[in-house]
Amino acid sequence: MKKNIAVLEGDGIGPEIVKEGLKVLHSIANKYGHQFSIHHAPFGAAAYFSHGSPFPEETKAICDEADAIVKGPVGLAVEEMKKIPQECRPELGAILPLRQRYDTFANYRPVRLPKSLAHFSPLREEIIGEGIDILMIRELVGGIYFGAKTEGPATGMQYAHDDCTYTDQQVRRIAEVAFEEARQRKALLTNVHKANVLATSRFWNEVVEDVRGQYEDVRYSSMLVDNAAFQLVKNPSQFNGVMLLENMQGDILTDQAGGVLGSLGLMPSACIGTEKGYVEPAHGSAPDIAGQNKANPYSMIGSIAFLFEKCLSLPRESEEIWRALFTVLERGYATIELAGARTASDRILSTSDFGDMVVSIIEEE
Ligand code: IPM
Ligand code: MN
Repeated sequence: MKKNIAVLEGDGIGPEIVKEGLKVLHSIANKYGHQFSIHHAPFGAAAYFSHGSPFPEETKAICDEADAIVKGPVGLAVEEMKKIPQECRPELGAILPLRQRYDTFANYRPVRLPKSLAHFSPLREEIIGEGIDILMIRELVGGIYFGAKTEGPATGMQYAHDDCTYTDQQVRRIAEVAFEEARQRKALLTNVHKANVLATSRFWNEVVEDVRGQYEDVRYSSMLVDNAAFQLVKNPSQFNGVMLLENMQGDILTDQAGGVLGSLGLMPSACIGTEKGYVEPAHGSAPDIAGQNKANPYSMIGSIAFLFEKCLSLPRESEEIWRALFTVLERGYATIELAGARTASDRILSTSDFGDMVVSIIEEE
């Protein structure tokens, strides 16, 4: 397979973890005879300072040309961010426009912790039980994130507002993605909502129930988001299967899931649209540890696994990356933020050692 890949390294730990992700991409390409041509482009806070925009025109052109996009985390330390006008900060000026441009409505965030790695979690081992294997599917281009906003002096009073809207089509397509995934996995689908308060949630549930009619073979349950937050800590594996979430609720619960695993560094993600997709870790750019070769590249390498599965339709290549990632951890290695009493001091890996080890496992298999 020959493909064009756009690479947006981003800020903070972005360049160093993207580098490890690309190492893994190239090693899979060698092994399976794929050809990738890689096109780096500026994106994020650094791009604002160097190009006057966090999502410069040249980057848009490179992404338009690409078959898929690899994106690192973006954002700088608080003091640096204050130098950037709100609308040019990477969240509103780059990430949301990127999602909108390619209509990447389906955000996949796997929450995986086998029993053998239960010690990474801050929860007790008996709570992890037989292990966690949840695929959180978050709607990514609708809801309050993309509604009209009013703020600042323009309002002429002490007032701000954010609109939350969902259309039938927006809910239907993400519900179909979630039901399809649950069907393929022969797994439970849990629909998360706040229908006791929000009109958009009541509407969401109506549409989800309608879609459910075509998936009678899929086990289904629905739960209020506040209860889901509680249950995720109390008994996470009850959700093993697929969780369907709207944009804002999904943002919050996916970070909570990272906490359950023990590190946001264990949260890869894919953002898939009707024609194109991109992959990114679910976490931020950790400017406090940038450049120190100690960030965990798992989330970025897992995102590369997703690139193969969801953007390039190469599931075998994806599986191989997942297997290598888990093999590193199961051999007792960990990056510093995960290392605890169970990690021997000679098994604490730097960012680049972690990537090298994943590559050597891929090569030995
Ligand atoms: C995420 C991030 C983004 C979001 C921010 C950076 C805009 O937190 O991908 O979860 O809120 O979606
Ligand atoms: Mn988030």
